[in-house]
Amino acid sequence: MTERRDLAGRRLVLGLSGGIACYKSAELLRLLVKAGAEVHVVMTEGAQRFITAETMQALSGRPVATGIWDAAEPNGMPHINLTRGADAVLVAPASADFIARLAQGRAEDLLSLVCLARPLGVGEHPVPLLLAPAMNREMWTHPATQRNLAQAAADGATLLGVAHGDQACGEVGDGRMLEAEAILEELTTALSPKPLAGRKMLITAGPTFEAIDPVRGITNLSSGKMGFAIARAAREAGAEVTLVAGPVHLDTPRGVRRINVRSAAQMHDAVLPQAPAHDLFVATAAVADWRPASLSAQKIKKDGKKVAPTFELSENPDILAAVAALPDRPYCVGFAAESEKLEQHAREKLLRKKLPLIVGNLGPATFGQDDNALLLVDAQSTRPLPADGRPADKLTLARALIEEVARRLDGWTRSAAA
Ligand code: C5P
Repeated sequence: MTERRDLAGRRLVLGLSGGIACYKSAELLRLLVKAGAEVHVVMTEGAQRFITAETMQALSGRPVATGIWDAAEPNGMPHINLTRGADAVLVAPASADFIARLAQGRAEDLLSLVCLARPLGVGEHPVPLLLAPAMNREMWTHPATQRNLAQAAADGATLLGVAHGDQACGEVGDGRMLEAEAILEELTTALSPKPLAGRKMLITAGPTFEAIDPVRGITNLSSGKMGFAIARAAREAGAEVTLVAGPVHLDTPRGVRRINVRSAAQMHDAVLPQAPAHDLFVATAAVADWRPASLSAQKIKKDGKKVAPTFELSENPDILAAVAALPDRPYCVGFAAESEKLEQHAREKLLRKKLPLIVGNLGPATFGQDDNALLLVDAQSTRPLPADGRPADKLTLARALIEEVARRLDGWTRSAAA
């Protein structure tokens, strides 16, 4: 798979305050660096009780800042040097005490000072502050902590998490720091342009499963990866996303509402009523065209029969065509997974389903893969995505597609004909 470097060219400050979750920050730092970021680590005294500055120095490839009175800084102002030109300050873990200090605007340690000194955007490029809290569940639910969090958010911080589960103290509840992958996803989202801000997107993904009997069914090889990548890219772009997913084992992208379905009929019933409330509908699901006309209540047995059973099939509803035919339809994007004559088949679907845009891809080359290549087909033109036609990873393609769709959506009104 082609490597993505989502944070290439980004300069980040990663702050650690004291907490056992500091052990996860080493992994987080590794991911940030792998994603291409230049990371400057700041640690409080408490954080250095849990993990050493040497570990973070080795992983970031830079000295770790720990004190306000750092003589190594030529101007003696590490808090200014660290924040000017930074793309974001991320505090992970953010302890209850650290959040209390933030809420009060205190500045007696370097990390608090860095947060206070970061430009808010008045005459300066704003530097977003993201907090990944980590603490015991009682500390988390305490009114003082909640009050401090609300104050920090009101002052412009973005709160990430927290997760629910086992805690280092042996208790179970809210207060775990998000996993490193989840924090990376949230950070990438925070730094992404928002061409779909205020838009609502509905998307179908994955295969459908059409039951024959209680243990068997008709399905296909769609993995759902392209649709899930588009859902994630749309959320990064600021959309409110609802993902109607067939049976796949994929994690839901963060911040996306997921509705699980199995059959085409269930997918149809989940999609149709809510489609008009959305600005954009993207149909990536590989919906089975046919389903067994009747469902056997019990497993169909061989029982020594010499003749194989035959099944009558009924046609499934065409979800995309039904949405595109609604009087108050959203902007509809179809997918065409073909094994040959991609452009010709995609264009036929564009006309048959009356769509403004269809995205073609070669089914056997994409199903289950991490890489893909797309062909954008509309009434006027056909063009590959990426422009050079070379395969790229599905999230990179999804981001390019979302950028393209956002542009088209801006010039489109509901009443306009497809
Ligand atoms: O009709 P066909 O399967 O060739 O078209 C593919 C496009 O139509 C995809 O966008 C797919 O999600 C959508 N589709 C649908 N409901 C069906 C069949 C296909 O929404 N029953």
